[in-house]
Amino acid sequence: MSANETLDYESVHKKSAKRFTHKEYLLMGAGPTNITDRVLKALSMQCLNPISADMYEIMDQAKAMLQYVFQTKNRFTLIHQTSGNGGNEAILLNLLNRGDKVVIAIGGTWGEKVLDMAQRYELDVLPLRKPPGEVYSLKELEEAVKSHKARLLFVTHGESTGGTLQQLEGLAPVCHKYGCLLAVDAVVSIAVDPLFVDRWEIDAVNAGTQKAIGAPPGMCLLTFSPRAEKRMREQKKRPPYYLDLLPQGVYFDCFDGESRTYHYTFSANMLSAVREALAQICEEGLIPMWQRHKSNAEYFWKRLDEIGLTSFVEKRENRFHGVTCVNVPQGIDQMDFLRYVKQKFEIEITPGHGPTLNKAMRIGFLGDNSRPEIVDFVIEALKDGLQHFGK
Ligand SMILES: Cc1ncc(COP(=O)(O)O)c(C=O)c1O
Repeated sequence: MSANETLDYESVHKKSAKRFTHKEYLLMGAGPTNITDRVLKALSMQCLNPISADMYEIMDQAKAMLQYVFQTKNRFTLIHQTSGNGGNEAILLNLLNRGDKVVIAIGGTWGEKVLDMAQRYELDVLPLRKPPGEVYSLKELEEAVKSHKARLLFVTHGESTGGTLQQLEGLAPVCHKYGCLLAVDAVVSIAVDPLFVDRWEIDAVNAGTQKAIGAPPGMCLLTFSPRAEKRMREQKKRPPYYLDLLPQGVYFDCFDGESRTYHYTFSANMLSAVREALAQICEEGLIPMWQRHKSNAEYFWKRLDEIGLTSFVEKRENRFHGVTCVNVPQGIDQMDFLRYVKQKFEIEITPGHGPTLNKAMRIGFLGDNSRPEIVDFVIEALKDGLQHFGK
């Protein structure tokens, strides 16, 4: 093309040389949450060659920290460049082939999405559903695994749309009795509520970066037990190229005797941000982090009581400590209310979704935002909103 030839279409971005910024909010929804300056700085460092010693060093550090956060010695522990839903899809496609039997315990939107994925790939699914606010007993899950002869049970640990926390302890040994593996969506629960991958014998876990981990969205954190790794290696059909986790495991140096090779261009910026976010957790310690999320959630529930608001999940023992679904009082339009709070206080709260659609707003105290002074500030904003709308 010669320089004096004209273009077919005009660019609409003629002023793109102007410095780009966007407004910043206190992110108090179901994630992403605000990230610290330290993580922002890591994100803004120069790119690196994805197959270089510098990159491998950061990957090794991130992997060791991730093993701590997952409480696992699984060698097959890695980071993959896709968001939480992509991580769930990768678990399904790496552990199951078309027609394989799977039980999906649905507690809200995320389980429904896993069901959608399973149906698209023509897996033989038994979906389980519960009334909103309820969680599954071990017995119910065992019955389903047994009757469906499932090869995989998929459960969501923390449900950011229903506000519940599914108990996991004791579940994997029950699955293993029937030759079934246990896969867990811990996208929002990671580093909020206790999760012991090895002690609880969980086979596959997917965690998000944008929640309590405190990094940007767009990556998923994964770990697989030796049982799951074996299953993956024995699959008749390979998963789609990009979601094939064995080559990504090779890139993460998970397997003895296999030297690192390129699978796709892994982002040094995102990796550095995740590494730095994981380092913050290692420095604070998992137990203090779990205690902090629990005590701030309980403090929030107490303060909600004081201003006359109630939790969508009635039974305290079923509540997730990262995201609380708060009932919207009768006569208030949820979207108007959230818009008012956002404009006046620069606080972003997410509306209901799935089981909480049009019923409850989702308020998250995740990672660095799980602090008593932030609870007080959110309560002040909610109280102001209630007064503004005449409640
Ligand atoms: C429990 C759970 N699973 C899956 C997802 C989907 O993650 P993503 O939006 O990063 O794809 C979310 C997002 O909020 C989530 O909370």
